[in-house]
Amino acid sequence: MKSIILAGGVGTRLWPLSREKYPKQFLKMNGHSLFQETYLRSLKLSSPDEIVVVTGEPYEYHVINQIKELGYSIPREHVLKEPVGKNTLPAVMWGMKVLYDESGDCTAAVFPSDHMLDAAASDVISSSEGLAEDCLVVFGIKPDSPQTGYGYVKAGVPVKNGYFVDEFKEKPDAETAQKYLDEGYLWNSGMFLLSTKVFFGEVMKFRKDIYDEFFSGSLNYHNIDGISMDYGILEKSDKVAVVPLNLSWNDLGSFRSMYAVGDKDESGNCGDALFVRSQNNFVSSGGRKIALLGVENIAVIDSGDAVLVCNLDDTESVKELVNFYLEKG
Ligand code: GDD
Ligand code: MG
Repeated sequence: MKSIILAGGVGTRLWPLSREKYPKQFLKMNGHSLFQETYLRSLKLSSPDEIVVVTGEPYEYHVINQIKELGYSIPREHVLKEPVGKNTLPAVMWGMKVLYDESGDCTAAVFPSDHMLDAAASDVISSSEGLAEDCLVVFGIKPDSPQTGYGYVKAGVPVKNGYFVDEFKEKPDAETAQKYLDEGYLWNSGMFLLSTKVFFGEVMKFRKDIYDEFFSGSLNYHNIDGISMDYGILEKSDKVAVVPLNLSWNDLGSFRSMYAVGDKDESGNCGDALFVRSQNNFVSSGGRKIALLGVENIAVIDSGDAVLVCNLDDTESVKELVNFYLEKG
C-alpha cells in the first residue's frame, strides 16, 4: 500500500506557536514533530519509496531534514511542493496522480500531519484495503463533545469491515454538532484510504475542473480552485464508507485540544506557569516566567515574540483573529 502525507497546512489556530514559516506539524513537541510521528505511522504500511509528501514550497527543507533525522530518506520526486496552498483536495489529487503515473492503479492511505494517534490505527487501515476497492474510506472516531471544527459522519448499513456513510457533514454549527452527537454520528478523523479508480472517478464526477487540471498535462497549481476533500468530495459522494477507530485520537488543532491531552494539576491547570487560586487554565510559556492569579479557563501562549491570551472556549476562533486582524492589518 502507498501513503500520502499532507503537510502543507499553516495551523493558524495555534498562533503564535504555529507560524507561516514554521507550521505546527514541524514543531518538535515530545522529541519528535507531528510530521515525524506521521511519517513513522506511514512506514508501517509503506516502504520509504512508496511514501509521498505534499507540502508548501517553503517547507521542503523541513520535510527532507526531519525524515533524515529519523534515519530514512525520501525520493526527491516524492516531495511535492505546492507553490500556493489550495487545501486538501488538490493536494490529495496531486499525490494520487504521481503514484498512478509511477505504478498504475493502486491504493493509498492519506495522512494529515496534525494528529496524535494510537499506533494500532495502521492495522485498521491495512485491513480496510478491500473496502477501498469500491468506496472512499474514512475512519471514524467516537465524539465526546460537540466540536465544530470536525467533519461528522453518519454510519449506515454494514459493508465489509465498515459501514456505508448515509451523511457526511463538514464543520457543522454548534447546534447541529450537538444534534449529531446525540444521534450517534462519528467524527471524521481526517485520514482516508483511497483507490485511484474510485477516487479519480468521484473527482471527475464532482470536481471535473480539478480533475482536468491534473490530467490535461499542463498542471498550473495557481489555476486550481482551493477546496478541501471534505467539502469538495466527501459531502457529495454516495461512495463513502466509514471504518470506526476505537482508539485514542486527538487533532492537536487548537489550544483546547492540546489542553485536553496535557498533564494537569489538581486544579485542572496545564502548563509551565505558577498557578495561584486559578483553575482549568492552559499555559505555554516558551521559557518565560508566567504567573496566573485568580483566573479560570484561559489560555496564555507566549512564543517569545508574541503573546496570545484568550478564553479556552474560544480557541477555535484564533484562526479568525489571525486572518482578520493580524495578517490583513
Ligand atoms: N499539502 C497541503 N496543502 N496540506 C494541507 C493543505 C494544503 O493546502 N491544507 C491543509 N493541509 C494539511 C494540514 O497540514 C493537515 O495535516 C491536513 O491537511 C488537514 O487539514 P486541516 O486544515 O487541519 O483540516 P481540518 O482539521 O480543518 O479538518 C479535517 O480534519 C478533521 C480532523 O482533524 C477534515 O478532514 C475534518 O473532516 C476532520 O474532522
Ligand atoms: Mg486539522
